[in-house]
Amino acid sequence: MNYDLIAPCHFGLEACTKKEIQRLGYEIREVSDGRVTFSGDELAVCRSNIFLRTAERILLLAGSFEARTWDELFEKTKALPWEAFIPLEGRVWVAKASSVKSKLFSPKDFQTIIQKAIVSRLQAAYHMEGQRLPMDGADYALRVFAFKDRITIGIDTSGESLHKRGYRRLTAKAPITETLAAALLMLTPWREDRPLVDPFCGSGTFCIEAAMMAADRAPGMNRNFSATAWENLIPKQLWYQAYDEAYDRADRVDLEALRKKTDIQGFDIDGEIVEAARANARAAGVEELIHFQRRDVAQLSHPKKYGFIITNPPYGERISEKEELPALYQTLGERYRALSDWSLYVITAYEEAEKQLGRKADKNRKIYNGMMKTYFYSYFGKKPPKREEGEAAGGEE
Ligand SMILES: C[S@@+](CC[C@H](N)C(=O)[O-])C[C@H]1O[C@@H](n2cnc3c(N)ncnc32)[C@H](O)[C@@H]1O
Repeated sequence: MNYDLIAPCHFGLEACTKKEIQRLGYEIREVSDGRVTFSGDELAVCRSNIFLRTAERILLLAGSFEARTWDELFEKTKALPWEAFIPLEGRVWVAKASSVKSKLFSPKDFQTIIQKAIVSRLQAAYHMEGQRLPMDGADYALRVFAFKDRITIGIDTSGESLHKRGYRRLTAKAPITETLAAALLMLTPWREDRPLVDPFCGSGTFCIEAAMMAADRAPGMNRNFSATAWENLIPKQLWYQAYDEAYDRADRVDLEALRKKTDIQGFDIDGEIVEAARANARAAGVEELIHFQRRDVAQLSHPKKYGFIITNPPYGERISEKEELPALYQTLGERYRALSDWSLYVITAYEEAEKQLGRKADKNRKIYNGMMKTYFYSYFGKKPPKREEGEAAGGEE
C-alpha cells in the first residue's frame, strides 16, 4: 500500500532531506517549512527510518482536514479509518500538537479531543462500545500540526528521534545534533578523499557523521523504531530486508582502502571529552577512520592542501566563556588562513563570529538549532586540481 510519509527536519535544511529521500528512490509530494512529505510503501517506512541522515523522524500520514471548531476536529478525526492503522490492543495517544495561524490552538485540547475521537472510532470498529480498549500493545504515538486551520495527523513510525543513532553515549556541554551535523556536512562539497578537521570536536559528532557517510554506514542500522512492532501494517520481513540492505552496503566498503584514503581528525582542548569522542566513534563502528587528539585550536595545522574545517566552536553558553570568544575566534581565523587552500565552515550563535574570524564569509545561512538562532558561515577554499591530464586545475569550491 502507498502512504504519504512526512519527514520533519531542521528549518532551512529541507533541501538536504529532500535530496536524501530522492536518492532512496521515493517521490517528493511537498516541501514546507521544516517538513518534507513523500510517497512510499511499507518498505519505505523501514528504509527511510534506517537510511535518512537528516530527518528527525518519519510520520505516516493518517489524515489531513480543515477544522475551525473543536466539534469539527472531533467529527473529522473520528471519520478517519483509524482501524486501518491501529489494532485493537494498540496504544494510541497524541504525543505532540502544535498550531500556527489557526483558530484551534491549545495543545492540551488537541490531545484530549483527538484521543476521544479515535477511541470512540476504534470502540465501534472493534465492537467494544462502552468498554475500555486494552491499550497494552505497540505504540502509535501521534503528532498533530495545525497550520492556517488545516489539521494534519501523523503516526510516528520512529519512536525515539532519529538523531539518536545510539552511538553518542557521552556528550560535550553543547553538542550539535547528529541530524544537523549530517545536514551541514551535506551542504559542503566535502568528499571522503579530502581532509576534514573539527578543531572543537566535543563529542565528535561532525567527525563521526562524516566517517559514517564515507563508510556508507546507515545511521539507523543499529537501532529499532516504533514501527518495528507494527506487525499489523509492516511485515517483519520488510524490516529484515531493509536492515540487510544497510549491512550489505556497509560490508561492501573496503575499510582498509577507505582508511588510507580518508583523513578525518577531531581536536578539543578537553582531554575527557576527547576520550568520550573516541568511545562514541567506537560505538558507531568508525573508530579506525578518525584520529582524535587533545589539542588547543592555537596549535591547529595540517600539511595537506584542499581540506575542510567544519566546526561548532563555543558560542558563550557560560558568562565566563563570553569574554574568551573574541580571542578564540581570532585564533581560529588565523589558523585557518595559515592552511593552504582550505575551506572553513562554522556553525555558531556568536553574533561577532564573522568579525572576529577576520573576513566576511562567502556565504552565511541562518539556521535554527532547536529554538536557538545560529549562523552557518562558509568560507570557500580551492578545489584540488583534476587528476586527468589536460584538465584545468584549481577553481573555487
Ligand atoms: C560547542 S562545543 C562542540 C560540540 C560538538 N560539536 C559536539 O557535537 O559535541 C565546543 C567545544 O570546544 C572546546 N574548546 C573550547 N576552547 C577550546 C580551544 N581553545 N581549543 C580547542 N577546543 C576548545 C570545548 O571543550 C567544547 O568541547
